[in-house]
Amino acid sequence: MSTGTQPQSANHPLARIDWDYIEFYVGNAKQAAHYYMSAFGFDQVAYAGPETGVPGRASYLLEQNDLRFVLTSSLTPDGEIADHVRLHGDGVRDIGILVADARAAYDAAIAGGATPVAPPTETKDEFGTIVRAAIATYGDTIHTFVQRDGYRGPFMPGFVEGRRSLAHVAKPGLLAVDHCVGNVGWGEMDSWGDFYARVFGFSQLVSFDDKDISTEYTALKSKVMTDSRHRVKFPINEPAHGKKKSQIEEYLDFYRGAGVQHIAIRTDDIVATIDALRSNGVDFLETPDSYYEMLQERVGTIDEAIGVLRQRGILVDRDDLGYMLQIFTKPLQDRPTVFFEIIQRKGSLSFGKGNFKALFVSIEREQEKRGTL
Ligand code: FE2
Repeated sequence: MSTGTQPQSANHPLARIDWDYIEFYVGNAKQAAHYYMSAFGFDQVAYAGPETGVPGRASYLLEQNDLRFVLTSSLTPDGEIADHVRLHGDGVRDIGILVADARAAYDAAIAGGATPVAPPTETKDEFGTIVRAAIATYGDTIHTFVQRDGYRGPFMPGFVEGRRSLAHVAKPGLLAVDHCVGNVGWGEMDSWGDFYARVFGFSQLVSFDDKDISTEYTALKSKVMTDSRHRVKFPINEPAHGKKKSQIEEYLDFYRGAGVQHIAIRTDDIVATIDALRSNGVDFLETPDSYYEMLQERVGTIDEAIGVLRQRGILVDRDDLGYMLQIFTKPLQDRPTVFFEIIQRKGSLSFGKGNFKALFVSIEREQEKRGTL
Protein backbone atom coordinates (compact mmCIF):
# COMPACT_ATOMS: atom_id res chain seq x y z
CA MET A 1 0.00 0.00 0.00
CA SER A 2 1.25 3.48 -0.74
CA THR A 3 -0.12 6.99 -0.51
CA GLY A 4 0.94 10.35 -1.87
CA THR A 5 1.28 12.68 -4.89
CA GLN A 6 0.66 16.43 -5.12
CA PRO A 7 -2.59 17.80 -3.67
CA GLN A 8 -4.95 19.52 -6.11
CA SER A 9 -4.32 23.27 -6.37
CA ALA A 10 -7.15 25.37 -4.88
CA ASN A 11 -7.63 27.44 -8.05
CA HIS A 12 -7.95 24.46 -10.42
CA PRO A 13 -11.37 24.69 -12.17
CA LEU A 14 -12.08 21.17 -10.89
CA ALA A 15 -11.07 21.92 -7.28
CA ARG A 16 -14.53 22.66 -5.85
CA ILE A 17 -16.69 19.99 -7.40
CA ASP A 18 -19.29 17.50 -6.31
CA TRP A 19 -21.32 14.63 -7.72
CA ASP A 20 -24.21 15.84 -9.87
CA TYR A 21 -25.85 12.68 -11.28
CA ILE A 22 -25.01 9.20 -12.53
CA GLU A 23 -26.71 8.12 -15.74
CA PHE A 24 -27.24 4.49 -16.65
CA TYR A 25 -28.03 3.35 -20.18
CA VAL A 26 -30.43 0.43 -19.80
CA GLY A 27 -32.57 -1.81 -21.98
CA ASN A 28 -35.87 -0.78 -20.42
CA ALA A 29 -35.72 2.43 -18.37
CA LYS A 30 -39.36 2.22 -17.33
CA GLN A 31 -38.84 -1.13 -15.63
CA ALA A 32 -35.37 -0.25 -14.30
CA ALA A 33 -36.85 2.87 -12.66
CA HIS A 34 -39.39 0.68 -10.91
CA TYR A 35 -36.63 -1.65 -9.66
CA TYR A 36 -34.52 1.18 -8.21
CA MET A 37 -37.64 2.70 -6.62
CA SER A 38 -38.99 -0.51 -5.13
CA ALA A 39 -35.68 -2.10 -4.08
CA PHE A 40 -33.58 0.96 -3.18
CA GLY A 41 -36.29 3.43 -2.15
CA PHE A 42 -35.73 6.12 -4.79
CA ASP A 43 -38.45 8.56 -5.80
CA GLN A 44 -39.11 9.45 -9.40
CA VAL A 45 -38.80 13.21 -9.80
CA ALA A 46 -38.75 14.00 -13.51
CA TYR A 47 -39.04 12.45 -16.94
CA ALA A 48 -37.71 13.27 -20.41
CA GLY A 49 -38.92 11.65 -23.61
CA PRO A 50 -40.96 12.28 -26.76
CA GLU A 51 -43.81 13.70 -24.63
CA THR A 52 -41.46 16.40 -23.29
CA GLY A 53 -39.83 17.21 -26.63
CA VAL A 54 -36.94 14.73 -26.43
CA PRO A 55 -37.37 12.25 -29.29
CA GLY A 56 -35.88 8.76 -29.50
CA ARG A 57 -35.23 8.17 -25.82
CA ALA A 58 -36.85 7.93 -22.41
CA SER A 59 -35.08 9.11 -19.24
CA TYR A 60 -36.28 8.85 -15.65
CA LEU A 61 -34.66 11.00 -12.94
CA LEU A 62 -34.64 9.24 -9.57
CA GLU A 63 -33.67 10.97 -6.34
CA GLN A 64 -32.99 10.10 -2.73
CA ASN A 65 -31.45 12.76 -0.46
CA ASP A 66 -28.37 13.97 -2.42
CA LEU A 67 -28.34 10.99 -4.80
CA ARG A 68 -29.47 11.54 -8.36
CA PHE A 69 -29.64 8.65 -10.84
CA VAL A 70 -30.86 8.94 -14.42
CA LEU A 71 -32.06 5.81 -16.24
CA THR A 72 -32.16 6.16 -19.99
CA SER A 73 -33.17 3.81 -22.77
CA SER A 74 -33.44 4.09 -26.52
CA LEU A 75 -36.75 3.99 -28.38
CA THR A 76 -34.99 2.94 -31.59
CA PRO A 77 -32.61 0.12 -32.57
CA ASP A 78 -29.82 2.52 -33.62
CA GLY A 79 -27.82 5.23 -31.95
CA GLU A 80 -25.42 5.52 -29.05
CA ILE A 81 -27.85 4.37 -26.34
CA ALA A 82 -28.90 1.21 -28.20
CA ASP A 83 -25.26 0.52 -29.18
CA HIS A 84 -24.11 0.97 -25.58
CA VAL A 85 -26.75 -1.43 -24.24
CA ARG A 86 -26.09 -4.04 -26.93
CA LEU A 87 -22.37 -4.09 -26.14
CA HIS A 88 -22.29 -3.53 -22.38
CA GLY A 89 -25.74 -4.52 -21.13
CA ASP A 90 -27.19 -2.14 -18.55
CA GLY A 91 -24.37 0.04 -17.22
CA VAL A 92 -23.14 3.48 -16.30
CA ARG A 93 -22.66 5.82 -19.25
CA ASP A 94 -22.14 9.19 -17.57
CA ILE A 95 -20.73 10.30 -14.22
CA GLY A 96 -21.98 13.90 -14.06
CA ILE A 97 -19.86 16.33 -12.08
CA LEU A 98 -21.20 19.57 -10.59
CA VAL A 99 -18.83 22.45 -11.37
CA ALA A 100 -18.90 26.22 -10.83
CA ASP A 101 -17.84 26.98 -14.42
CA ALA A 102 -18.41 24.26 -17.05
CA ARG A 103 -16.41 26.09 -19.74
CA ALA A 104 -13.37 26.52 -17.49
CA ALA A 105 -13.65 22.89 -16.34
CA TYR A 106 -13.83 21.68 -19.94
CA ASP A 107 -10.91 23.87 -21.06
CA ALA A 108 -8.75 22.64 -18.17
CA ALA A 109 -9.69 19.02 -18.91
CA ILE A 110 -8.88 19.34 -22.62
CA ALA A 111 -5.60 21.14 -21.79
CA GLY A 112 -4.83 18.16 -19.53
CA GLY A 113 -5.25 15.79 -22.47
CA ALA A 114 -8.90 14.68 -22.14
CA THR A 115 -10.77 13.51 -25.25
CA PRO A 116 -13.70 15.84 -26.02
CA VAL A 117 -17.22 14.35 -26.23
CA ALA A 118 -19.35 17.53 -26.26
CA PRO A 119 -18.09 21.13 -26.18
CA PRO A 120 -19.71 23.55 -23.70
CA THR A 121 -23.38 24.05 -24.59
CA GLU A 122 -26.02 26.27 -22.99
CA THR A 123 -29.60 25.02 -22.82
CA LYS A 124 -32.56 27.04 -21.57
CA ASP A 125 -36.14 26.60 -20.47
CA GLU A 126 -38.52 28.55 -18.21
CA PHE A 127 -36.38 27.64 -15.16
CA GLY A 128 -33.18 29.23 -16.44
CA THR A 129 -29.97 28.18 -18.16
CA ILE A 130 -27.73 25.20 -17.66
CA VAL A 131 -24.24 24.82 -19.13
CA ARG A 132 -22.85 21.37 -19.90
CA ALA A 133 -19.72 19.93 -21.49
CA ALA A 134 -18.50 16.33 -21.66
CA ILE A 135 -15.22 14.44 -21.89
CA ALA A 136 -14.40 10.77 -22.29
CA THR A 137 -12.97 8.58 -19.56
CA TYR A 138 -12.30 4.79 -19.44
CA GLY A 139 -14.16 2.55 -21.88
CA ASP A 140 -17.35 4.16 -23.23
CA THR A 141 -17.87 6.07 -19.98
CA ILE A 142 -18.00 9.88 -19.98
CA HIS A 143 -17.97 12.75 -17.51
CA THR A 144 -20.42 15.61 -18.05
CA PHE A 145 -19.50 18.88 -16.31
CA VAL A 146 -22.73 20.52 -15.14
CA GLN A 147 -23.04 24.20 -14.22
CA ARG A 148 -26.47 24.79 -12.72
CA ASP A 149 -26.12 28.07 -10.77
CA GLY A 150 -28.48 29.76 -13.27
CA TYR A 151 -31.10 27.00 -13.15
CA ARG A 152 -33.98 26.29 -10.78
CA GLY A 153 -35.83 23.47 -12.57
CA PRO A 154 -36.18 19.86 -11.38
CA PHE A 155 -33.09 18.68 -13.32
CA MET A 156 -32.31 20.15 -16.73
CA PRO A 157 -34.08 21.36 -19.86
CA GLY A 158 -36.02 18.54 -21.51
CA PHE A 159 -37.05 17.04 -18.16
CA VAL A 160 -40.54 17.70 -16.83
CA GLU A 161 -41.31 17.33 -13.16
CA GLY A 162 -43.51 14.40 -12.27
CA ARG A 163 -43.14 13.03 -8.76
CA ARG A 164 -43.90 9.44 -7.93
CA SER A 165 -42.97 7.43 -4.90
CA LEU A 166 -43.96 3.95 -3.81
CA ALA A 167 -45.67 4.17 -0.44
CA HIS A 168 -45.15 0.50 0.52
CA VAL A 169 -41.36 0.62 0.08
CA ALA A 170 -39.07 0.76 3.15
CA LYS A 171 -36.95 3.94 2.95
CA PRO A 172 -33.29 2.99 3.39
CA GLY A 173 -31.89 6.49 4.00
CA LEU A 174 -29.29 6.45 1.21
CA LEU A 175 -27.58 9.85 1.33
CA ALA A 176 -25.03 10.53 -1.42
CA VAL A 177 -22.32 8.98 -3.57
CA ASP A 178 -19.12 8.29 -1.62
CA HIS A 179 -16.97 6.96 -4.47
CA CYS A 180 -17.38 5.53 -7.94
CA VAL A 181 -15.04 2.74 -9.02
CA GLY A 182 -13.81 1.99 -12.53
CA ASN A 183 -12.47 -1.34 -13.78
CA VAL A 184 -9.84 -0.95 -16.51
CA GLY A 185 -7.80 -3.42 -18.57
CA TRP A 186 -4.55 -5.21 -17.76
CA GLY A 187 -1.75 -2.74 -17.07
CA GLU A 188 -3.99 0.33 -17.52
CA MET A 189 -4.50 1.38 -13.88
CA ASP A 190 -1.52 3.71 -13.74
CA SER A 191 -2.37 5.56 -16.94
CA TRP A 192 -5.98 6.11 -15.78
CA GLY A 193 -4.66 7.30 -12.41
CA ASP A 194 -2.45 9.74 -14.32
CA PHE A 195 -5.51 10.78 -16.36
CA TYR A 196 -7.33 11.93 -13.20
CA ALA A 197 -4.17 13.75 -12.07
CA ARG A 198 -3.65 15.54 -15.43
CA VAL A 199 -7.28 16.19 -16.37
CA PHE A 200 -8.92 16.79 -12.97
CA GLY A 201 -5.85 17.85 -10.98
CA PHE A 202 -6.65 14.99 -8.58
CA SER A 203 -4.10 13.40 -6.26
CA GLN A 204 -3.64 9.80 -5.29
CA LEU A 205 -5.21 9.04 -1.92
CA VAL A 206 -4.00 5.47 -1.66
CA SER A 207 -2.94 2.53 -3.79
CA PHE A 208 -3.05 -1.22 -3.27
CA ASP A 209 -0.98 -3.78 -5.10
CA ASP A 210 -1.81 -7.41 -5.72
CA LYS A 211 -0.16 -8.42 -2.43
CA ASP A 212 -2.71 -6.20 -0.61
CA ILE A 213 -5.67 -7.46 -2.63
CA SER A 214 -5.48 -11.16 -3.24
CA THR A 215 -6.78 -14.44 -1.98
CA GLU A 216 -5.35 -17.87 -2.58
CA TYR A 217 -6.97 -17.76 -6.04
CA THR A 218 -7.60 -14.27 -7.41
CA ALA A 219 -6.03 -10.81 -7.32
CA LEU A 220 -6.39 -7.20 -8.40
CA LYS A 221 -4.64 -3.86 -8.08
CA SER A 222 -6.31 -0.58 -7.18
CA LYS A 223 -5.52 3.11 -6.68
CA VAL A 224 -7.80 5.87 -5.46
CA MET A 225 -7.76 9.35 -7.01
CA THR A 226 -9.43 12.23 -5.17
CA ASP A 227 -10.13 15.94 -5.27
CA SER A 228 -8.58 18.00 -2.48
CA ARG A 229 -11.83 18.00 -0.42
CA HIS A 230 -12.28 14.21 -0.69
CA ARG A 231 -15.75 14.73 -2.11
CA VAL A 232 -15.28 13.05 -5.45
CA LYS A 233 -13.19 9.88 -5.32
CA PHE A 234 -12.45 7.58 -8.23
CA PRO A 235 -10.81 4.27 -7.35
CA ILE A 236 -9.40 2.49 -10.43
CA ASN A 237 -8.97 -1.30 -10.48
CA GLU A 238 -7.08 -3.55 -12.87
CA PRO A 239 -6.88 -7.33 -12.86
CA ALA A 240 -3.80 -9.11 -11.53
CA HIS A 241 -2.57 -12.65 -12.05
CA GLY A 242 -3.68 -15.35 -9.63
CA LYS A 243 -4.28 -19.08 -9.80
CA LYS A 244 -7.77 -18.34 -11.10
CA LYS A 245 -9.55 -15.58 -13.00
CA SER A 246 -9.61 -12.14 -11.36
CA GLN A 247 -13.07 -10.72 -10.65
CA ILE A 248 -11.92 -7.67 -12.64
CA GLU A 249 -11.22 -9.82 -15.67
CA GLU A 250 -14.65 -11.42 -15.31
CA TYR A 251 -16.16 -7.92 -15.31
CA LEU A 252 -14.16 -6.88 -18.39
CA ASP A 253 -15.32 -10.04 -20.22
CA PHE A 254 -19.00 -9.45 -19.46
CA TYR A 255 -18.97 -5.66 -19.84
CA ARG A 256 -16.83 -5.96 -22.99
CA GLY A 257 -14.27 -3.50 -21.75
CA ALA A 258 -13.59 -0.93 -19.07
CA GLY A 259 -16.47 0.61 -17.12
CA VAL A 260 -17.96 1.44 -13.74
CA GLN A 261 -17.69 -1.51 -11.35
CA HIS A 262 -19.46 -0.12 -8.29
CA ILE A 263 -20.99 2.98 -6.84
CA ALA A 264 -20.51 3.39 -3.10
CA ILE A 265 -23.45 5.10 -1.41
CA ARG A 266 -23.24 6.72 2.03
CA THR A 267 -25.64 6.21 4.90
CA ASP A 268 -25.44 7.44 8.49
CA ASP A 269 -27.10 4.29 9.90
CA ILE A 270 -25.94 1.23 7.99
CA VAL A 271 -27.83 -1.27 10.16
CA ALA A 272 -31.19 0.43 9.53
CA THR A 273 -30.29 0.92 5.85
CA ILE A 274 -29.45 -2.75 5.31
CA ASP A 275 -32.60 -3.89 7.16
CA ALA A 276 -34.73 -1.67 4.90
CA LEU A 277 -32.97 -2.80 1.72
CA ARG A 278 -33.25 -6.48 2.67
CA SER A 279 -36.94 -6.07 3.41
CA ASN A 280 -37.28 -4.59 -0.11
CA GLY A 281 -35.61 -7.70 -1.53
CA VAL A 282 -32.03 -6.46 -2.18
CA ASP A 283 -29.45 -9.27 -2.21
CA PHE A 284 -26.03 -8.74 -0.65
CA LEU A 285 -22.81 -10.69 -0.85
CA GLU A 286 -22.57 -13.10 2.05
CA THR A 287 -19.79 -12.71 4.60
CA PRO A 288 -18.21 -15.90 5.95
CA ASP A 289 -18.92 -16.38 9.65
CA SER A 290 -15.18 -16.75 10.30
CA TYR A 291 -14.78 -13.05 9.40
CA TYR A 292 -16.38 -12.07 12.72
CA GLU A 293 -14.23 -14.30 14.89
CA MET A 294 -11.21 -11.97 14.75
CA LEU A 295 -13.12 -8.74 14.11
CA GLN A 296 -13.02 -7.27 17.61
CA GLU A 297 -9.23 -7.74 17.83
CA ARG A 298 -8.71 -6.23 14.39
CA VAL A 299 -10.89 -3.11 14.71
CA GLY A 300 -10.99 -2.51 18.47
CA THR A 301 -13.96 -0.87 20.16
CA ILE A 302 -16.85 0.15 17.90
CA ASP A 303 -20.32 1.49 18.64
CA GLU A 304 -22.13 -1.46 17.02
CA ALA A 305 -22.54 -4.89 18.58
CA ILE A 306 -20.58 -7.49 16.59
CA GLY A 307 -23.61 -9.83 16.65
CA VAL A 308 -25.74 -7.17 14.94
CA LEU A 309 -23.14 -6.80 12.16
CA ARG A 310 -22.63 -10.57 11.82
CA GLN A 311 -26.35 -11.15 11.43
CA ARG A 312 -26.41 -8.73 8.49
CA GLY A 313 -22.99 -9.51 6.95
CA ILE A 314 -21.71 -5.96 7.48
CA LEU A 315 -17.90 -5.53 7.21
CA VAL A 316 -15.76 -3.18 9.32
CA ASP A 317 -12.36 -1.59 8.68
CA ARG A 318 -10.30 0.88 10.70
CA ASP A 319 -7.61 3.40 9.86
CA ASP A 320 -5.90 6.01 12.06
CA LEU A 321 -8.81 8.46 11.60
CA GLY A 322 -11.65 6.17 12.64
CA TYR A 323 -13.57 3.24 11.23
CA MET A 324 -16.05 2.47 8.50
CA LEU A 325 -18.77 -0.12 7.89
CA GLN A 326 -19.56 -1.48 4.44
CA ILE A 327 -21.46 -4.15 2.53
CA PHE A 328 -21.80 -4.96 -1.18
CA THR A 329 -24.88 -5.86 -3.18
CA LYS A 330 -24.89 -8.58 -5.79
CA PRO A 331 -24.78 -7.30 -9.41
CA LEU A 332 -27.74 -5.08 -10.33
CA GLN A 333 -28.37 -6.78 -13.69
CA ASP A 334 -27.92 -10.24 -15.19
CA ARG A 335 -24.37 -9.62 -16.39
CA PRO A 336 -22.02 -9.69 -13.36
CA THR A 337 -20.98 -6.07 -13.86
CA VAL A 338 -22.07 -2.99 -11.88
CA PHE A 339 -23.12 -3.26 -8.21
CA PHE A 340 -23.57 -0.98 -5.19
CA GLU A 341 -21.60 -0.66 -1.98
CA ILE A 342 -23.36 0.75 1.08
CA ILE A 343 -20.90 2.56 3.35
CA GLN A 344 -21.04 4.37 6.67
CA ARG A 345 -17.92 6.33 7.61
CA LYS A 346 -17.15 7.05 11.23
CA GLY A 347 -14.11 9.24 10.65
CA SER A 348 -12.28 6.76 8.42
CA LEU A 349 -11.12 7.52 4.87
CA SER A 350 -10.53 3.79 4.31
CA PHE A 351 -11.62 1.82 1.27
CA GLY A 352 -11.82 -1.41 3.23
CA LYS A 353 -8.33 -2.84 2.81
CA GLY A 354 -8.86 -5.03 5.88
CA ASN A 355 -11.99 -6.48 4.23
CA PHE A 356 -10.60 -7.28 0.81
CA LYS A 357 -9.83 -10.87 1.62
CA ALA A 358 -13.22 -11.72 3.17
CA LEU A 359 -14.98 -9.91 0.39
CA PHE A 360 -13.08 -11.63 -2.39
CA VAL A 361 -13.63 -15.08 -0.95
CA SER A 362 -17.33 -14.23 -1.13
CA ILE A 363 -17.05 -12.95 -4.73
CA GLU A 364 -15.12 -16.09 -5.70
CA ARG A 365 -18.04 -18.20 -4.46
CA GLU A 366 -20.34 -16.24 -6.79
CA GLN A 367 -17.85 -16.58 -9.67
CA GLU A 368 -17.72 -20.32 -9.04
CA LYS A 369 -21.52 -20.53 -9.35
CA ARG A 370 -21.29 -18.69 -12.71
CA GLY A 371 -18.49 -20.99 -13.89
CA THR A 372 -16.13 -18.05 -14.43
CA LEU A 373 -13.54 -18.61 -11.69
FE1 FE2 B 1 -15.76 0.72 -2.76
